[in-house]
Amino acid sequence: MGLLDGKVALITGAARGIGKSIALKFASEGANIVFTDLVIDDNASNTVKEIEAKGVKAKGYASNAANFDDTAKVVAEIQKDFGRIDILVNNAGITRDGLMLRMTEKQWDMVINVNLKSAFNFIHACIPIMMRQKKGSIINMASVVGVHGNAGQANYAASKAGLIALAKSIAQEMGSRGIRANAIAPGFIITAMTASLSDDIKAEWCKKIPLRRGGTPEDIADVATFLASDLSSYVSGQVIQVDGGMNM
Ligand code: NAI
Repeated sequence: MGLLDGKVALITGAARGIGKSIALKFASEGANIVFTDLVIDDNASNTVKEIEAKGVKAKGYASNAANFDDTAKVVAEIQKDFGRIDILVNNAGITRDGLMLRMTEKQWDMVINVNLKSAFNFIHACIPIMMRQKKGSIINMASVVGVHGNAGQANYAASKAGLIALAKSIAQEMGSRGIRANAIAPGFIITAMTASLSDDIKAEWCKKIPLRRGGTPEDIADVATFLASDLSSYVSGQVIQVDGGMNM
């Protein structure tokens, strides 16, 4: 028996990286998986196949998580195809780093819209479904920089702090309906998002991490599985840092 047998999990931006790892881990615990990404290309189709190989149903949907109407449409389609949504992971995210003096309005708006507004869009569309089911688990993918801030990432850090406050507020608003909401704050995780950083920067990060290594997407997927499952049925409104003990 899996921890998520028979549940339907919706994960945004899961064609690759942390979202994909979460999808695979949830599938290995018995959940049927729906995920979104900007395009369902060969890579995303391969992700669908890898998930299906775990013996569950899976489908990828092309949708821009930052777009309110797109999101309402895709959630309605998912509801039609899969009949329910038990778990929502707001994972889609981007960086457009820069110091405040040089940050453009476009850099600010893009990051806030893709990282934070997307979570509003999906929570708004999924909550009526979860209310009818009298149960649901929402997980927002934040970041340690949303807790501590980070020079050169004001837009990203603000979006991630917003995701934490959004989870805490939804936990308070929806708890009486059986809906839980939590945030995960990953530290330095080795994915495509961080691959472009120079070796020097990566080495600097690792020096600050007591466990002396960058995290893996699987490290995040394990905590997401805890928050998605009934193992955490009395946990809501929390932010869990998954960062190797890093002290920023
Ligand atoms: P990634 O860049 O490898 O994957 C992000 C996925 O989101 C991609 O498949 C991308 O196509 C998709 N995406 C981007 N914009 C989208 C949109 N508008 N609509 C739908 N999908 C969209 O990133 P990674 O590293 O897997 O990150 C996943 C989440 O974890 C992000 O929210 C990121 O901010 C967060 N995170 C990552 C950390 C890291 O060290 N990698 C650390 C802390 C948080």
